[in-house]
Amino acid sequence: MSNKMMPGFGNDFESESLPGALPQGRNSPQQCPYGLYAEQLSGSPFTAPRATNERSWLYRIRPSVRHSGRFAKADFPLWKTAPTGETHDVPLGQYRWNPFDIPVEKTNFIDGMRTITSTGDCTQHSGMATHIYVCNHDMDASVFLNADAEMLFVPQLGGLILHTELGQMTITPGHIAVLPRGMMVKIQLCGNTSNGGARGYVCENYGAKFTLPDRGPIGANCLANPRDFKTPVAAYDDSDEPHELIVKWCGGFHKTSLGHSPLDVVAWHGNYVPYCYDLSTFSPVGALSFDHPDPSIFTVLTAPSETAGTANIDFVIFPERWSVAEDTFRPPWYHRNIMSEFMGLIKGTYDAKQEGFIPGGVSLHNMMLPHGPDLDAFEKASTSALKPVKMTDTMAFMFESRFPQHVTRFAAETSTLQDDYIDCWQGLEKKFTGKK
Ligand code: FE2
Repeated sequence: MSNKMMPGFGNDFESESLPGALPQGRNSPQQCPYGLYAEQLSGSPFTAPRATNERSWLYRIRPSVRHSGRFAKADFPLWKTAPTGETHDVPLGQYRWNPFDIPVEKTNFIDGMRTITSTGDCTQHSGMATHIYVCNHDMDASVFLNADAEMLFVPQLGGLILHTELGQMTITPGHIAVLPRGMMVKIQLCGNTSNGGARGYVCENYGAKFTLPDRGPIGANCLANPRDFKTPVAAYDDSDEPHELIVKWCGGFHKTSLGHSPLDVVAWHGNYVPYCYDLSTFSPVGALSFDHPDPSIFTVLTAPSETAGTANIDFVIFPERWSVAEDTFRPPWYHRNIMSEFMGLIKGTYDAKQEGFIPGGVSLHNMMLPHGPDLDAFEKASTSALKPVKMTDTMAFMFESRFPQHVTRFAAETSTLQDDYIDCWQGLEKKFTGKK
């Protein structure tokens, strides 16, 4: 399989892995080259406006309808979908979790998905879910199709190879990938970790697709630049080995058997495509003189809602950067906001927390619940000399939603939930004396 990639975001791409396999000048000729079958995969309603109209034409060894025998129920009890209907007894609060261990038993990517939060309603194409995956094994002859959501992958430990219908992407920590709703994928592990496993974060987006945020007065450059997004070239698997197809549909899981690999697309064209992105190519823009801008300045991708500027999901990163503001409390301020913030850490430390927020862990600051720097971070940032400082070896991120995020029962009851998180703000004593 080739690992070449094509640059650009939202482009109309085309790729063929055999010469002349892609029909030219038409989508559905009477006979396709090489005896391939033509199949359209539409990610938007047919009549969506051009700016949001997305589809790809796939030229494959067998049509995917051949892959759909009778389905049987499958069970992945820790992968939840909104609305879950779950309840738990953990009181309202700011939450933080330690990283999950890599399992000892054989666990592939799908087996290893653990839902932390969800919101909205997947059947209404609104809302999202957040997950941590921990796995130690390839999917072998299993292929997965998620009809409920676009999936955003954020590896934190070890890498993943995503064999999609349109080609192959390899992502390691510091890279992300996005897989369109309904596109089949087989996931393998890559890169050596000490225990041979992989861990990371996934955001399922039930709503409108991720896109690049408008830059407003920033202009035509910086933040995430379109050319740094990469889409794979066609790569097909002409295998008659039996495969299993697992379909996630309206929160349920279903499986069927195939006599071959469904990753058999020899050529394709269109704009409904998977892509990956190296987070180190994000060019941050920030305060050059004083004050701390809103975190939206670090938005990589945004999944819009029907209301302008009110995202179903923002994917926001806190990358390596210079901190130079004068006469400024440089970490994030104390705040409450209507958006709910699921936060993960890929590496290093985050500037608002001195300890306790660990790579692979999670914090959740939900709608209108106050949060901000812990005591040690506050004391340090209030008194340190304000020289220019390079913030290195750090990469935190947020899956931020306009909706409150509901914690799953699993996440509420797991032993990795810290019971002392709120204590990090104890000791923020009264400093007010009434005198200047
Ligand atoms: Fe926040």
